[in-house]
Amino acid sequence: MKHFKITFKPDDRQITIHKGATLLEAAGQAGIILNNVCGGKGTCEKCAVILEPDSQQVLACQYRIQSDLTVKIPVSSRFFEQKILAEGIETETRIDHDIYKNYLKIQPNAEIFGVAVDIGTTTVVARLINMADGRCLATEAALNPQTRYGDDVVSRIAYAETDDKLGELQKVIADCVNELITRLCKKTSIDNQQIFEVCVVGNTTMNHIFLKLPVKQLGQAPYKAYSLDAKDTDVGELGLQINPAGNIHTVENIAGFVGSDTTAVALATDIDTTDQMSLVVDIGTNGELVLGTADKLYAASCAAGPAFEGARISCGSRALEGAIEAVVVNEDDIVLDVIGSSPAHSICGSGLIDAVAVLLNLGIVNATGRFTKPATLKGKLPSSIFSRIIEQDSQPAFVLDDSQKVILTQADIRQVQLAKAAIRAGIILLERKLGIADADIQQIFLAGAFGNYIRAESALRLKMLPDVPTERIRFVGNAASSGAQMILLSRQCREKARQLARKIEYVEIAHQPDFQTVFAECMSF
Ligand code: FES
Repeated sequence: MKHFKITFKPDDRQITIHKGATLLEAAGQAGIILNNVCGGKGTCEKCAVILEPDSQQVLACQYRIQSDLTVKIPVSSRFFEQKILAEGIETETRIDHDIYKNYLKIQPNAEIFGVAVDIGTTTVVARLINMADGRCLATEAALNPQTRYGDDVVSRIAYAETDDKLGELQKVIADCVNELITRLCKKTSIDNQQIFEVCVVGNTTMNHIFLKLPVKQLGQAPYKAYSLDAKDTDVGELGLQINPAGNIHTVENIAGFVGSDTTAVALATDIDTTDQMSLVVDIGTNGELVLGTADKLYAASCAAGPAFEGARISCGSRALEGAIEAVVVNEDDIVLDVIGSSPAHSICGSGLIDAVAVLLNLGIVNATGRFTKPATLKGKLPSSIFSRIIEQDSQPAFVLDDSQKVILTQADIRQVQLAKAAIRAGIILLERKLGIADADIQQIFLAGAFGNYIRAESALRLKMLPDVPTERIRFVGNAASSGAQMILLSRQCREKARQLARKIEYVEIAHQPDFQTVFAECMSF
């Protein structure tokens, strides 16, 4: 398929994308989340962008790419940045970037930078921020090197049983953050001594390990955090390589299993100020949920596992170059969208959700999650699709790419099924707490490191989300990083995060009396 180069201004981000993709998808691929209030139907006009050099205004969700383009994105069309960048446009959401003023007293006339870090169980994302104007200058991500001690929080908690081993895990993550800081500095030609403030969010276990706090109690009932509070720590104490006069701010956790990353997501999505019933689903190695309105908010964690981050999937990966991020069916075959310009070599979360939805729609996988016997499908599917069904290690499997590198197996489908059942069961149990039904949910914010854009229809087809019209679902990318960025910059956001973390009430999903039954019901597609 033909690909075109798209340059986004003023960010100066460049991506290549296939012919016919929308500018909304292209912006997502470049990591720029646009407003899509109507779900891309072309009716809200909130995604307007400007094509250069003719200054032609178009709706990003409707404009199909047919050539190389330079696209200017107005502040008013950005989902997060409008809160961070807008000067005097949206005064009620305007952030006062006041933290940097302290540092100006120490180093007058210095350029002050900060780093917002989201430490996930599997991935770590760091953003370099100009503290004076709030602009994000670069983003870097890495696999959390603690994964070599186990891919979930339980194994990390078990490893950190002594002070020495806890210190070892802390050093590993501090080294990783330092590596990301080095990469950010190199990319932007700034000196790490110009970085004065770091804001770190993460799940409660990652938060505790980073701060060298005891974690043993997180691994046994009633799974209590050692500390839920925000902390400001000297740079030297945590081993970060920034200006020694700087400060490391960690954000309030909500409970033992719902950490400061969820506080940051809740802040970035403004869920505490709305009277619309809202659901936030943040899918990382665990699925974190927040449901409610300004009046009452509940949060829960569901053991979704890292399937949507690509782990435990035979050809899975994060959203890297060469990862399949979208799968659709045309008249007689499947069509893939692969990140970057390399051939497909893996599949990331958004591609996985699409691929399973496609297999379900074609009847290749049935509602119980099992592959249908090929003999039953013969003659009912286009031959090019039928020939993709193979047998591998005596198990049925489906070949996604033509060079036969990326394959979905029965075991992969099972992982997706377990992950989506955990998320859906968590949502149902929170709905029951509030006494509401799916139809009462007016907006769903879908956050996480799936890839760039997740197709709402595919997530609905998997029965992973409440059955609501697609226009109520908004993909908000790495909202934890956006929240961390807001907290990095502003005292007002720090205070808001503190209030939010205390306001949200934690629900232990696995202890709800109907958990087992609901989970079993949610296994079907
Ligand atoms: S008009 Fe484009 S998202 Fe609504």
